[in-house]
Parts: sequence; structure tokens; C-alpha cells
Amino acid sequence: MPRTPDTRSAADFLPPGRSLPALREAAAGCRGCDLYQQATRTVFGEGAPDAGLMLVGEQPGDQEDRSGRPFVGPAGRLLDRAIAEAGIEREQAYLTNAVKHFKWKPVGKRRMHDKPRAAEINACRPWLEAEIEAIRPRVLVCLGATAAQALLGPQFRVTRQRGQVIQTRWAPATLATIHPSAILRAPDDDARHAMYEAFVADLRIAAAHLHQELRRTEV
Ligand code: URA
Ligand code: SF4
Repeated sequence: MPRTPDTRSAADFLPPGRSLPALREAAAGCRGCDLYQQATRTVFGEGAPDAGLMLVGEQPGDQEDRSGRPFVGPAGRLLDRAIAEAGIEREQAYLTNAVKHFKWKPVGKRRMHDKPRAAEINACRPWLEAEIEAIRPRVLVCLGATAAQALLGPQFRVTRQRGQVIQTRWAPATLATIHPSAILRAPDDDARHAMYEAFVADLRIAAAHLHQELRRTEV
């Protein structure tokens, strides 16, 4: 029976072998929802396969769509700076997104970010789950509401629950914080500074858990 648009999903495109290279290759041809039509390419996750820390964003932006790599645009540069300040090296982390294609709407000549719908987040979740299963991170950080909704459920509220470490089926230490793009959209310098400091504080919590886990596995 043909599937209706809302029951299509990335699950139909998962490869038999679930190594990261196999997943990445299969995801390049995903048509699990309509977002592939408008985007240039799938932007799959990136980082060490044995990374202790996994960071999950929302979806690729304009620059990610052009380059095929996650978090290389303005939000990515801010994220890089914040994780370094929190004592994490990008090499210790695997970076990915809840949705693997850039969703946008035309505004003048620009491609403006457009928020993915719940159906699109759900359709794309098999890639994210497969990435988590391949990497088995010790610490998992959801950056913003989309990632938190995808992994922690629709009841989760980043504003209320950010920075709280919980054990989930995904990782022994799971937490959510704001999305770096939210900091870029801050109304003024003071707000931006305060949001950035709170973001780094959440990432320091993730770093502390990461370092604790690494010490534990060293002995
Ligand atoms: N925002 C995201 O959530 N992910 C990216 O890769 C870039 C911007
Ligand atoms: Fe597949 Fe996700 Fe892209 Fe939709 S957004 S086509 S589910 S990879």
C-alpha cells in the first residue's frame, strides 16, 4: 500500500549495516520526507566515531547546506567558541542535527531558515537514533527545543529544564540547553552576553560529566 506523506520516514532508507560510513552513505539518498527536494544535500553528522560527547542541533543552515558539513556557519562558530571555553575540544565531540536537510523559505534573494515541523522531525529521527546507537556517547547535549523534542519528548521544556542532567536510553548523562542561533538573535549586547554565559555554563556541566566518564574508563 503506498504510504501517505505523513507516514513516510527515514526508516525506509536505513542500510542493513549500521556503521557510521554506511549510515552516512545511505542518508545521502534519503527521501523520507519532502525536505530533500528543496535542499542541496543531506548534511550528516560529523566527528570521531568514539566521541564521548554528542551535540545535537536542529537542522543545517544555509552554509551547512552548501558545504555538506554540520555547524560550519555563524551558529557553528559560536558553538566552537563556547565548547572551547567550556573545556571541550571539537575532536572529543560528534556533531549532528535532528533534521538532516536544510528547510528554508525565500525572503528576497536569501534562503531563510524555516522551522521543521514535528512530522519532519519524526521522519528524520531514525538517522539520529542510528547515529546515537553507533556512537554510544557518554554525554548527550540537545541544543535547543527541536533536538530536545526529538530525543526527550514533546513535554520537555528547554527554558525550565536546561542544564539538568538526566539518564536516558540515549546516554548516561543527557542534558539540553539553548540553541546557539538563539544567542545570535538576542535583542541587544547585554542579553547576548548573558545568554552566552548561561550557554557556556550548561556546556561546562556537560564537560564535567564527560571528564568524569573519561577518568572512569581510563582506570
Ligand atoms: N544550526 C543547527 O542546528 N545546525 C547546524 O548544523 C547549523 C546551524
Ligand atoms: Fe530524509 Fe531527514 Fe532529509 Fe527528510 S530531512 S529527507 S527524513 S534526511
